[in-house]
Amino acid sequence: MKVLSVSSEVFPLIKTGGLADVAGALPIALKPFGVETKTLIPGYPAVLKAIRDPVIRFEFADLLGEKATLLEVEHAGISFLVLDAPAYYNRTGGPYVDAMGKDYPDNWRRFAALSLAAAEIAAGRLPGWQPDLVHAHDWQSAMVPVYMRYSATPELPSVLTIHNIAFQGQFGPDIFPGLRLPAHAFSMEGVEYYGDVGFLKGGLQTAHALTTVSPSYAEEILTPEFGMGLEGVIASRTSSLHGIVNGIDDDVWNPATDPMIAQTYSAATLKDRIVNRQRVTEHFGLDSDDGPIFCVVSRLTWQKGMDLLASIAGEIVQMGGKLAILGAGDAALEGALFAAAGRHRGRIGVSAGYNEPMSHLMQAGCDAIIIPSRFEPCGLTQLYGLRYGCLPIVARTGGLNDTIVDANHAALQAKVATGIQFSPVTAEGLLQAMRRAMHLFQDRKVWTQMQKQGMKSDVSWGRSAERYAALYSSLVSRGA
Ligand code: ADP
Ligand code: GLC
Repeated sequence: MKVLSVSSEVFPLIKTGGLADVAGALPIALKPFGVETKTLIPGYPAVLKAIRDPVIRFEFADLLGEKATLLEVEHAGISFLVLDAPAYYNRTGGPYVDAMGKDYPDNWRRFAALSLAAAEIAAGRLPGWQPDLVHAHDWQSAMVPVYMRYSATPELPSVLTIHNIAFQGQFGPDIFPGLRLPAHAFSMEGVEYYGDVGFLKGGLQTAHALTTVSPSYAEEILTPEFGMGLEGVIASRTSSLHGIVNGIDDDVWNPATDPMIAQTYSAATLKDRIVNRQRVTEHFGLDSDDGPIFCVVSRLTWQKGMDLLASIAGEIVQMGGKLAILGAGDAALEGALFAAAGRHRGRIGVSAGYNEPMSHLMQAGCDAIIIPSRFEPCGLTQLYGLRYGCLPIVARTGGLNDTIVDANHAALQAKVATGIQFSPVTAEGLLQAMRRAMHLFQDRKVWTQMQKQGMKSDVSWGRSAERYAALYSSLVSRGA
């Protein structure tokens, strides 16, 4: 089966979050199931710089008003189609925001162009390669099924995966003519969304199947609290909605072979983690006592509950804990965390920015990772934590709920606990969880047992890739 995957970020070419990890790992995990994927990605400067000897596959003379070239290249085991369109993607900032952190004003056009290019490929534009199915991810490629629906090939199956419904790609109605869709696409069945144009909304209406990245989140987005305005649209499509939990790339995230950590180890040699712990201690300027090091590797946003953490940082220190925080995002949250670090030198260290190698070292050297998210479609850092023996302390929501076994009395007795879950997601809830963690940490036998249990958990793509493959097959065999 031939699949065209479309994503605005793909690891290792370009990454701002978990979407990139998933879009990079899934095509490789699907290979054993006979799925051959080509992945379409925008030609950002970082992407064009990283690839070697691409082949020109197609020229768009007028892709929503701009010229674009489709390049093909193999990179890190992934077959890429790179949409080289300098007018859209040759920018100095990140994939979505400028150097000042502001959304590019023409994001609608940049990602509509990506989606239209995908629909053209679906329609057979690429010489010698015709996909059987198209898989789009998040709002940036949610217009793929929309363009397919209103094209000459509406029957080619499409799947849209929701990684985060908080980001919807909503724009004023004035952009509609620029999308070059037929007038009737501006309707309830199409992209019209409370009088605006909704990219994700249009994709949810037109894709043949919808998936999201955990079973719990698939249920949560049916409620007003988590659906963020789209719960009604999703409710009308529940028979086409599937919750499939993400896996991790266990070659990239393997403590036994990871070249980004100071000392490799396995469940049998957990003591060797000490070398990584020392590096973390040095990097974050922490005291070198035996107290537990809790880490955070996260976007600094309201979603991730970073304000809750900032508000109880002092209490964590009082209990004897230390905090190592790596994050980028909201300036006010960053400021609050830096202020806490200033008040508690040696106990709290903050590293601002995006640092892939450091994120590996922290999982390999810290005792636990704190993830107090208000909502979390799947979450990957708790999965990395499990694999690295860095105990996840997580809010009971979305994928965090589905992947961590709470250390309650029964689970501890049965030796199946892998972390700590807490609810409600409030400062008090988090504080209680931290108290439980401190208490558990005193009993090193139990703690080590939990680390080992987590390291045994199956967090690979195996079963989930099989579910995606089965979904693809069912859509292709029934002709969508
Ligand atoms: P989300 O996609 O919502 O940000 P996930 O947990 O799914 O959350 O994925 C986050 C990914 O980004 C993980 O691979 C994590 O290690 C990485 N990450 C987040 N913040 C940073 C950072 N500051 N430096 C390095 N990696 C980070
Ligand atoms: C989104 C979600 C995160 C998920 C990731 C990959 O960024 O916020 O929970 O793990 O996508 O699916």
